[in-house]
Amino acid sequence: MSINSEAKFDFYYYSSYSPLDLTMLRTGCKIALARTILKPYASSYELLANYTSVQSETQMNIQNLPRLPVPKLSDTLEKYLRTVKPHLNEDEFSKTVKLVKNFETGEGKRLQSLLEKRAQTHLNWLEEWWLKTAYLGYRDPVVVFSSPGLVFPFRKFKTQLEQLQYAAKTILATLEYKALIDGDKLPVEMMGKSPLDMSQYKKVFGTCRVPADKIDRLSYNDTKYVTVIHNDHIFHVDLWGDDNQMLNEDQIVKQLKDVMEHSKSRTDTPVGILTSENRDVWAKAYNILVKDNVNRENLADIEKSLAILCLDAPVGLWNCSNKNAQQNLAGAQTIHGGGSSSNGGNRWFDKTIQFIVGADGVTGLTYEHTPAEGQPIAILTDFIINYLEQGKTGTSQSASPKQPKHLKFNVNSDVKNMINKAKENLDRLANNLELNCFTYEKYGKNFIKSQKLSPDSYLQMAMQYAFYKLHNTPGAHYESAATRMYVGGRTETIRSCSIESVEFAKTMLNTQSSPKDKLQAMQKAINAHKHYTVQALQGLGVDRHLLGLKLIAIENGIDIPKLYSDAGFVKSAHMRISTSQVACKCDGFMCYGPLVDNGYATCYNPRDNDVNFATSAFKANPETDCIKYRGALEQALQDMHDVLLQNTSSKL
Ligand code: COA
Repeated sequence: MSINSEAKFDFYYYSSYSPLDLTMLRTGCKIALARTILKPYASSYELLANYTSVQSETQMNIQNLPRLPVPKLSDTLEKYLRTVKPHLNEDEFSKTVKLVKNFETGEGKRLQSLLEKRAQTHLNWLEEWWLKTAYLGYRDPVVVFSSPGLVFPFRKFKTQLEQLQYAAKTILATLEYKALIDGDKLPVEMMGKSPLDMSQYKKVFGTCRVPADKIDRLSYNDTKYVTVIHNDHIFHVDLWGDDNQMLNEDQIVKQLKDVMEHSKSRTDTPVGILTSENRDVWAKAYNILVKDNVNRENLADIEKSLAILCLDAPVGLWNCSNKNAQQNLAGAQTIHGGGSSSNGGNRWFDKTIQFIVGADGVTGLTYEHTPAEGQPIAILTDFIINYLEQGKTGTSQSASPKQPKHLKFNVNSDVKNMINKAKENLDRLANNLELNCFTYEKYGKNFIKSQKLSPDSYLQMAMQYAFYKLHNTPGAHYESAATRMYVGGRTETIRSCSIESVEFAKTMLNTQSSPKDKLQAMQKAINAHKHYTVQALQGLGVDRHLLGLKLIAIENGIDIPKLYSDAGFVKSAHMRISTSQVACKCDGFMCYGPLVDNGYATCYNPRDNDVNFATSAFKANPETDCIKYRGALEQALQDMHDVLLQNTSSKL
C-alpha cells in the first residue's frame, strides 16, 4: 500500500467508527506498536531509523512467541450471547439471538475467513489496527481520557535540596533500569509456563507521541538527556558530560538547581499546556510552532529526550486532613496537574514518561499510553522505590558536565490565544473529574487466597456487586487482560458483568438469601470471572475478535453487519465500569478517568494485606457519585468477607 492510499484508508477507517467504538477502543490498556504505522508517516531518515530499531524486536519475533489466534466464530458468538444477556430484556435478547445466528452462517462466515487470511500475513493481526484506532487516531485529549497517572508513596521534603536529591535519584534509577532493558537483562516475565512479550519495555524511554492532523505519530529515540520542566519553563539537561561520563547524584542536583535559578517565576506562555488539548487542536498549534526554526529545534529536543522531569510547585500535600485527601490530591496531580493554575502547564503530556517530583512531596508519573501497558511502568516504579531505599548515588562522575539549556519558544499571538484556550479547557477537564483514591485496609490478597479464591476475580465481583447495589442495574464492565503471551500482544477485554455476577449481586441483596446461598452465588460468580479471564489471556475473548471482524469488513468495503448496532452490542459495550489491575509492591497506585460519561474508573493495586483503589467519575454526570461508589465498594468487600467468615472458620 502506498503512503497516500494508506492515509486515505485511515480517513475512511476513522470516519466509519461510531463514538461507541472509539470509546471502546480507547478503553483501559491498548495495543501500540510503531510497525507499519510509522513508516508511511516518517518525515525524516532519523525517524525511520528509530522506527526500524524498535520494530525489529517484534517483527523478528526474537522471543519466538506464538501468534495471536483468531478465535473460532462459533465460540466467540456463544460467549458473546452470554455477556449481552444481563443487559437485555427478553424481547431484545431473542432479537439478538436471531441476529447472531444469521451472522454466524452469513456475513460473519465471510468476514471470519478474511480475518483468518489477514492473520496468516501478520505476526499479530490486531496490533497495527489497534495502534491506529485506539491511540494515534483518537482525537480527545490524552489527559484524563487516555493517560494514567501513577502515584508513588508520599515524601515529606523539608528542603528544596531534598526534593532535588529525590529527583536526581529517580533519574539515576531510571538510567539503571533502562540499562537493564537495553542489555536484555530484565528477567522475562512468565504467565505460568508461558514467557510474555517483553517488547513493551523497550518502548517507554525516549518515546514521544507527536500530534498531527487526524492521526498522530510515535517517535522512538535513544538519547542521553532529559527534559526538565519547572515553573512551566522547559530545559534540556544532559546526563552525560563532555567526557562521556555519567553524572552522579550531586552533579544532577547541581543541574536542577541551575534550572531553578533560571526559572524563578512562571511563564505566562506555558507551551506545554498545549499538549493537554484535543489532538487536532494541538496539531494546529504544533504546525504553527514548527514554522519557526528555534521552536522546531525545541520541539525536536523534547521529542527525543529520554523522559520528562516535572519539578512541581507545592500543592499543600501536608495540609491534607488524611491519607485519602492526600491520595486524591496526588492522583489529580499525576492525571492532569491540577489545572492551569497548579501544575497543568508544568507538563509535556505527549511524552511517554513524565516523572513528577513536587516541592512538598507529591511524587509519581504521568504516562502516555500509546506505546505500552501499565506493567513496565509499575515495575519501573518498584525499581525506583527500591533504588531510593538503597541510598545509591550513581556509579560514575563526569569531569565536565554540560550546562542545562533553556528551551525558549517564540510564541506568536495565534499560539498565545491557543495557550489561553488550552488553559480554559484543561481547567474544565480537571474540574469535571471526581477522584476517590483510597486504601482498603481490612484485607488484601492473602485473605482472599486463604479462601481459595482468585484475588482479581474476587475484587472484580466486589465492583459488580457495588455497582448493582448503587444503581440497581447491571453495569457493563471492562477489565484489561494481558495478551502478552503472543508476539506483539497487549490486551483483551474481560467482560466482568456476567449472568453469574448479576445473580450474585441479587442474592446478596435479597434478605431471604441464606449465608450458604450467598456463598454459592459468590463462588459461582468468581469462578465464572476466572474462567473468562483465562480465555481472555489466551486471546479468546469477545471484544477484539468482534472488532477484527468489523475492521476487516471496513477494509474490504463490506457493509458493517447489523450485529454492531444491535442493542446487545451497544449496551454490553457501554462500559460503565472501566477497570484494570496494576500491581506494584510499594504503596502506590495508578489512576485514570472513566470511559463513558455515566461510568466509573477503578484501577487497583492488590497487595498482600490491603488494596489501593483509585476510582473516578465525571462530576457533570448526575448518575454517578464517587463517594457513594467507594462506600458501596467498601461495603461489598465487607459483606463478601462476612459471608466467607459465616461459612468458614477463617478470621481476619
Ligand atoms: N486460590 C488460591 N490462590 C489463588 C487462587 C485460588 N483459587 N486463584 C489465584 N490465586 C493466586 C495466584 O496463584 C496468584 O498468586 P501469586 O500472587 O503468588 O502470583 C494470585 O492469587 C493472583 O492471582 P489472580 O488474582 O487470580 O490473578 P492475577 O494476579 O494473575 O491477575 C489479571 C489477573 C487478568 C489482572 C492478569 O493476568 C493480567 O492480565 N494483568 C495485566 C492487566 C493489565 O494489562 N494491566 C495494565 C493496564 S494499563
